[in-house]
Amino acid sequence: MSTSSVNRQSNAGALDKIRTVIAGGVSSGMRIDAIPQPLVVRRAKDCRVWDVEDNEIIDLNMGYGSHLFGYADTEVLAEVGEQFALGHLTGLPHELDAEAGALIAELVPGIEQVRFANSGTEAVTSALRLARVSTGRSLVVTFEGHYHGWSETVLRAGKAVGHLREGSPEQVRPGAPGMIPEALAHTAQLPWNDHRAARELFARAGQDIAAVVLEPVLVNANVIPPAPGFLALLRELTRDSGALLVFDEVITGFRVARGGAQERYGVEPDLTVLSKVLGGGFPVSAFGGRRAAMRLLAANQAHHAGVFAGNHAAIRAVVAQLGKIRRTPGVYAELEQLGAHAEEGVRALAAAEGRLVRVGRVGSLVSVALLREPVAAEAGLRELAAAIDFDGHRRWQIAAQKEGVYFHPNPMEPWFLSTAHTKDVLDKVLTALGRALAGAR
Ligand SMILES: Cc1ncc(COP(=O)(O)O)c(C=O)c1O
Repeated sequence: MSTSSVNRQSNAGALDKIRTVIAGGVSSGMRIDAIPQPLVVRRAKDCRVWDVEDNEIIDLNMGYGSHLFGYADTEVLAEVGEQFALGHLTGLPHELDAEAGALIAELVPGIEQVRFANSGTEAVTSALRLARVSTGRSLVVTFEGHYHGWSETVLRAGKAVGHLREGSPEQVRPGAPGMIPEALAHTAQLPWNDHRAARELFARAGQDIAAVVLEPVLVNANVIPPAPGFLALLRELTRDSGALLVFDEVITGFRVARGGAQERYGVEPDLTVLSKVLGGGFPVSAFGGRRAAMRLLAANQAHHAGVFAGNHAAIRAVVAQLGKIRRTPGVYAELEQLGAHAEEGVRALAAAEGRLVRVGRVGSLVSVALLREPVAAEAGLRELAAAIDFDGHRRWQIAAQKEGVYFHPNPMEPWFLSTAHTKDVLDKVLTALGRALAGAR
């Protein structure tokens, strides 16, 4: 097809064509509602995407948070390109494995050894299996609203079928159609930040608990940070009962601080799961811990595998990305400032439009949700979900996209800022969002 005939396509036409051969038009049920107004991308650079109509759009979603330095980062791409030419998949050990593992161990406080995998789901699943083998127990404790991928027991309906709406308890329970029903018998779910509920569960069932898994900052539902002392409480309860504490740092790793949430909040888990920023947009994940926690994998008494796990291109991406992070120590202060600028700006524009808004932020993770009614600053997930104006937010998203800014239409999804979202770019974003908000009444 010639470029000129490609250019005449519309987003809607291109999406229809995709839908004839891709079920639902995207290869993920999580992304199926992400474009109420069609947007078919042709290329991406820094913090911008260009669609098939050649519209330039500033992206606040950034591949769901993988691109700390923006799209098509030349340093990482150059290294990975070189690796493709050198052979990117042999299934044999490579010197890069030592380099990547050492970088992770240097940067993440709770890690001495890792295993690589391809996705967050795979790494969480493997970490939980390791926890079950290590403890000889089966119960896994999760928290409402936290997302750990789509494997049995940790998938929750709210993410799998439609989005968490109006705080319905049905939507936050684990489980989804087609899952093995018995799998859920091995999962308990607690409300986030509820000290008493955590204490009670451990008092009642502590001896059965293999692992507690959590997003140490609840990012997947409105960016709700851990309440003071909550991570330390989970550390104490798991240590006392012989369960493993598993931090799913798929988003927070190398994002909320160089060493992730465990560095930012000073609590070390037994196992950590990493992905997203880890590979700068290449499909790679890792899970790891201290050598003692990884010993059953080393002895091959706990199973984890994968043809593509640890392929040389992905590991080269890790080396390039983490090398860049290590060479750029000021990046987290910079991201903190950009996040604060976005937060202030969005609060000001909502006030100017007379709209209620809840802004949750940890560093460069900024959650913005229009509200129907006020909520307390420390509101929990259910109160927040009950107060969110889901329809109004969606109207705002559609209007914003027409103004050249993309954010996820689900108000529970955050903006993932990168170093490419400079103050100048954010000011443009805020102006466009203000116009969109005024127009979306
Ligand atoms: C915190 C967290 N854990 C796990 C996952 C699952 O990762 P993947 O979609 O790569 O399987 C995600 C995905 O967004 C996530 O945000």
